[in-house]
Amino acid sequence: MSKDAPFLTADHFAYIRAHTTREDGFLAELRAAAADSGIPAIWIAPEQGALMQVLLRLAAAREVVEVGTLAGISAIWMARALPVDGRVRTIELEPAHANFAESWIARSDVAGRIEVHRGDAREVLPRFADGSADAMFLDADKVGYATYLDHALRIVRPGGLILVDNALAFGQLLDPDVRDESVEAIRAINARIASESRLTGTLVPIGDGMWVAIRAADRQA
Ligand SMILES: C[S@@+](CC[C@H](N)C(=O)[O-])C[C@H]1O[C@@H](n2cnc3c(N)ncnc32)[C@H](O)[C@@H]1O
Repeated sequence: MSKDAPFLTADHFAYIRAHTTREDGFLAELRAAAADSGIPAIWIAPEQGALMQVLLRLAAAREVVEVGTLAGISAIWMARALPVDGRVRTIELEPAHANFAESWIARSDVAGRIEVHRGDAREVLPRFADGSADAMFLDADKVGYATYLDHALRIVRPGGLILVDNALAFGQLLDPDVRDESVEAIRAINARIASESRLTGTLVPIGDGMWVAIRAADRQA
């Protein structure tokens, strides 16, 4: 192998997937029920859930905001990393997704730690106070990411975590022929996060790629 060749191959990624903390029986059952209900299988991978739990515990997070609930899988992974009085406020636009998520969250071990906020995140996020979250996870429509990141920089306290999913754009990131608006929005947010002075982070190549960033204090003028 030349020194320029990548060390990580598709086989390594498969190995990583096979050697991570696994989802429990409840999440496996939830996932199967979601698929049976026609909910698209676009939830986080277990290796992302495990990393998110590690990061939230390291940050001693109590308050988390999520944009994009879907079936509630990532919200449950995250809530399990919080203290008993912790809270995940998760925002969902589609009533069918919110209904499904609420019914399964109610049966979960973290029912008291998750609030589903229904509506468009563009309308819900402005209601959340500055500095009111220790962490925020962006995982909804990609064209909204620029707006959601503006809110994340306001809502997450200095020193808190900002996580952004699908940074590799469904495998289409590096294909110059793909110009659709979701992929372009992801290219734009990747460039912005990498150069944002209030963020220190890196794009972790698990799942479909996830930004892991710390929200620094604002620079003094
Ligand atoms: C990728 S899925 C979220 C997956 C979930 N975070 C998980 O890993 O378990 C994206 C979700 O965002 C929702 N969504 C799309 N646009 C939205 C918006 N403007 N406001 C709130 N939710 C939105 C979709 O309906 C969908 O349920």
